[in-house]
Amino acid sequence: MRLSDCHNFQDFRRLAQRRLPGPLFNYIDGAADDEITYRRNTDAFERCDLVPNVLRGVKDIDLSVTVMGQKLALPVYCSPTALQRLFHHTGEHAVAAAASRYGTLFGVSSLGTVSLAELRKAYATPQCYQFYVHKDHGLNRAMLQSAKQAGVDVMMLTVDTITGGNRERDLRMGFSIPMRLTPASMLQFAIKPRWALDYLRHELFRMPQLEEHISIEGGSISIGRYFSEMLDPGMDWNYVAGMVKEWSGQFCLKGVMSVEDARRAVDIGCTGIVLSNHGGRQLDGSRSGFDQLAEIVDAVGDRIDVMMDGGVQRGTHVLKALSLGAKAVGLGRYYLFPLAAAGEAGVDRALGLMRAELQRGMKLMGCTQISQLTRGNLRFR
Ligand SMILES: Cc1cc2nc3c(=O)[nH]c(=O)nc-3n(C[C@H](O)[C@H](O)[C@H](O)COP(=O)(O)O)c2cc1C
Repeated sequence: MRLSDCHNFQDFRRLAQRRLPGPLFNYIDGAADDEITYRRNTDAFERCDLVPNVLRGVKDIDLSVTVMGQKLALPVYCSPTALQRLFHHTGEHAVAAAASRYGTLFGVSSLGTVSLAELRKAYATPQCYQFYVHKDHGLNRAMLQSAKQAGVDVMMLTVDTITGGNRERDLRMGFSIPMRLTPASMLQFAIKPRWALDYLRHELFRMPQLEEHISIEGGSISIGRYFSEMLDPGMDWNYVAGMVKEWSGQFCLKGVMSVEDARRAVDIGCTGIVLSNHGGRQLDGSRSGFDQLAEIVDAVGDRIDVMMDGGVQRGTHVLKALSLGAKAVGLGRYYLFPLAAAGEAGVDRALGLMRAELQRGMKLMGCTQISQLTRGNLRFR
């Protein structure tokens, strides 16, 4: 199987599975508890159908949107994800380069493996920084400061990780950062020598956003322990209101799911919210972002940019979310599997397929501009 054989999400997923050692594939592919929310995220899009209009003259399609002050050529963006250089040695560089080519925003995680400033210098496309609030408030201030200095366009605070999700695939596989090799996992790595060679031949694994401030004792900490031990479970609306003031720019909360919280985000001066359950990786049994869209857009959509992520595998999923009032839609595994499968060429191909699906979908819907997508285009079953 080659990259040119990948025509959709499942194809990229299969190719990624062939290339990645088991613990890494399962870190991307896995989710919390019984993974019900993970599955639900994609299934939610099947709850409704698109109702097209015809004979509208759809020669030229404009897919651009403006969200959180950023003009994007596509209504999708690459949501921030951790540890990208573990999946392919080019990591964040590959994602940022492909996002730039398609004129869209990419996110850099607090657990990113390339420095914010380096990415800012190399790519002009809008960049958001995904922030975690640590127990050490001095560290939080320093991190905000360096993001500001780097010239980040949007601050994105993740609020659904107040404690670590129960990711049983990671527990079974012994996945941790940095990687700790046990006899069982060693075998998983040994049978993927190409990945191992690439990993060893390139720049040492780093987490530049954290390394100045956090020492990872004993050389290894699990993702669950990072969330549980280092992040601040006391984080509350007051603290975040202070951060929003200090940042004084585009500030968005990722992981808001209730109308009440959406209203509070408006009250403290946020400019955006992402309805998200972290790709099903945190609270299993929670609702999907897509399912929550309509009521949150109705409550606050005229005062704040509402986005969503989770389960997006097709252009038509994006069209459904936009029809309900989302300003833009985040992609996670949609670009991570291609990254793992083929680096920058993989992400490029995945975004190219997404753009083609969106253009085709818009034409078939009888729309030339994203703003023409409305709830009139949708029927729930
Ligand atoms: C491997 C992986 C790592 C992630 N790392 C982060 C992260 O560091 N910070 C964050 O806010 N979200 C993180 N996410 C969540 C994504 O930003 C996004 O919300 C989620 O992947 C969307 O669901 P999808 O993968 O079904 O598209 C991660 C997701 C995955 C799959």
